[in-house]
Order: sequence, then C-alpha cells, then structure tokens
Amino acid sequence: MATTPFPPAGGYPRRRPRRLRGYQAMRDMVAETTLAANDLIYPMFVADGIADKNPISAMPGQYQHTIDSLKYAVSQALEAGVRCVDLFGVPQQADKDHRGSAAFSDDGILNRAIASLHTEFGDDVMIMADTCLDEFTDHGHCGVLTGDHFGRTVVDNDATVELYCRMALSQARAGAHIVSPSGMMDGQIGAIRAALDKEGFESVAIMAYSAKYASSFFGPFREAVGCSLTGDRRTYQQDPANITESLLEVDMDIAEGADFVMVKPALPYLDVLARVVDRSPVPVAAYQVSGEYSMIRAAGANGWIDQQAVMMESLLSIKRAGAGQILTYFAVDAARELSR
Ligand code: PBG
Repeated sequence: MATTPFPPAGGYPRRRPRRLRGYQAMRDMVAETTLAANDLIYPMFVADGIADKNPISAMPGQYQHTIDSLKYAVSQALEAGVRCVDLFGVPQQADKDHRGSAAFSDDGILNRAIASLHTEFGDDVMIMADTCLDEFTDHGHCGVLTGDHFGRTVVDNDATVELYCRMALSQARAGAHIVSPSGMMDGQIGAIRAALDKEGFESVAIMAYSAKYASSFFGPFREAVGCSLTGDRRTYQQDPANITESLLEVDMDIAEGADFVMVKPALPYLDVLARVVDRSPVPVAAYQVSGEYSMIRAAGANGWIDQQAVMMESLLSIKRAGAGQILTYFAVDAARELSR
C-alpha cells in the first residue's frame, strides 16, 4: 500500500495532480487498482423440478436454472472469461425437512448440478458450492433447531456442523473444487477441513464466509432460493454494528484451515474488508450480495443512474478496498465490459 509522503517545507508549489488525469492512456498507466475477469466469481442458482429456467423477479437478469440451462449459462460465463461459479441449490418444497437432508444426499439438486458441471467442464471452470442448509430446511434456518435451557429455539451449533461436514463431503464427491461454508457456525471450518482430509479430499479448498453480517441486503436472495425463513439470523450472523468481532472470526477461520476468507456484504462493509485485508495472510474475497445487485439494477432500469458505469465503479471500489476475489451477480456483464 502506498503511503502519503510527508509534505515538504513550503508545500507543493509546482505540483499539479491533474497532469496525470488528462487523457485515458495516462489515467490507465497510473491506475492503482485494476479489475480482471479472473477476480470474479459468479453465484448461480439451480432448481429441482422445473422444466425451464425461471427468472428471479427481484434480481433482473438472474435465474433459477435447470441443470441444462445452468450448463449453457456456465459456458457463456466461461466464454466471457469467468472461470469460477458459486452454486446454490433450490430443492422442491416437498424435499425440504427439518435438517435439510436434500443438501447432503448425493442425488440432491445441488450435488447433481455439481457433478454435471464437473463432467462438462473439468478444471476449466472452478465449481464452488454453497455449504449451508438454509435452502434445504423447511424452517429456512441455516442449521437444525433445538431448545436451549431457557426454552429459546436456537440453531444447534455442533449438530449443524456435523451436517455441514456431510454436505461438504457430498459436494467434494460430486466434484466441487471449493466448498464455502456460509452458515456462521462456530468451528465449522476446522470440522469440515478434518472431514475432507480424512476422506482424501485434501485438494478441495475452503472459502470461509468469515465475516458475514445479519444483513437486510440479502432480501432478494430469499426469493432466489425460495427460502422458508420467517424471522432473522441474528443469533448466528454478525451484528452490523461490529468490526472487531470480524477480525476474531477471520483469525479463527484461518487457524482452522480456511484457504480464503470472505467479507459479506461488500459495499456497505468496505471498512471491514479493508481491516481484514490488512491482517489476513490468505486471500480475502468479498460478496456483492443480492440487494447490492438489485439496487443498481433498479436504479439503472429507471434511468436514475448509468447501470454499467455504477456496476464497474462498485466492483472497482471493492477491489480497491483490497478484495482479491469478488462474488457478484454482475460477473458476466462485468467480464464482458472488461473485454470491450
Ligand atoms: C446462506 C446464504 C445467504 C446468502 C448467501 N448464502 C442468505 C442468508 O444468509 O440469509 C445471501 C447472498 C445474497 O444475498 O446475494 N446460505
């Protein structure tokens, strides 16, 4: 990181910062941050029991895919230069249960989609799989529920982590390159790492959702995955008021074996991202979430902002704050813009 030189005595009499802003070639040469298609990870949805891809109304341009339409969309993404996709599964309503069994059965929609993409693309497209139960539970929480000694209904940390391990193993068997535990259970990274290693999946990487906030910016995602949640996730995701806590989460995940750590959402949490980047010895990703995407799309559709320009500026800002990888629903649009 460049630091500001101390001001010389008498200030900067001849210095004109505008000299370096006069024309595009100069601006490009002095640009401190660049965005590349290789930085981008495309989150995608695959749904069970649908005949055709289904547009997500709160996220214009994004779909619940069939396995076939997913394959086609991934080939388009690859053509644009995007080489990593992050998959979320949407089971049929009837297949949801209290512990999200369809998440870890080999013939669950997410695992079938992973296997199909792996067969089609091999190592040309990295398949990252969301390792969390909320799409698969009938109550919509990220884990199994239990009663605590006060009689509160809570997500049972350790029982949930056991299921995450089974889910990660099923994803690895199906051909996932990266698993990404997003449920914010304590100890999830260490447990999953141990489970993967024990079964011979040492080469499967873990991208840890380390600093994930209980954010209202996730709103449109709930439609995207048909989530059954009523209530909120504040007993396991972080309070938006906190930053120090994120550093602890990141330290623990790295100690437990995370290959990447992540901050989520992105734009409203750039301060958190910058702090995490300062201290992380592993790559730090940021997730530009559904609400961030939909706001830009909505304002763009109304002609209130220039959608393409704001898209690129928001991604560049996330990169400037220090993200190495950006998960974004704009991945393909941005990759195309970059190759123009
Ligand atoms: C949980 C998960 C969520 C998102 C990614 N993984 C939803 C949540 O925590 O409520 C949100 C992604 C987005 O809003 O784009 N499996």
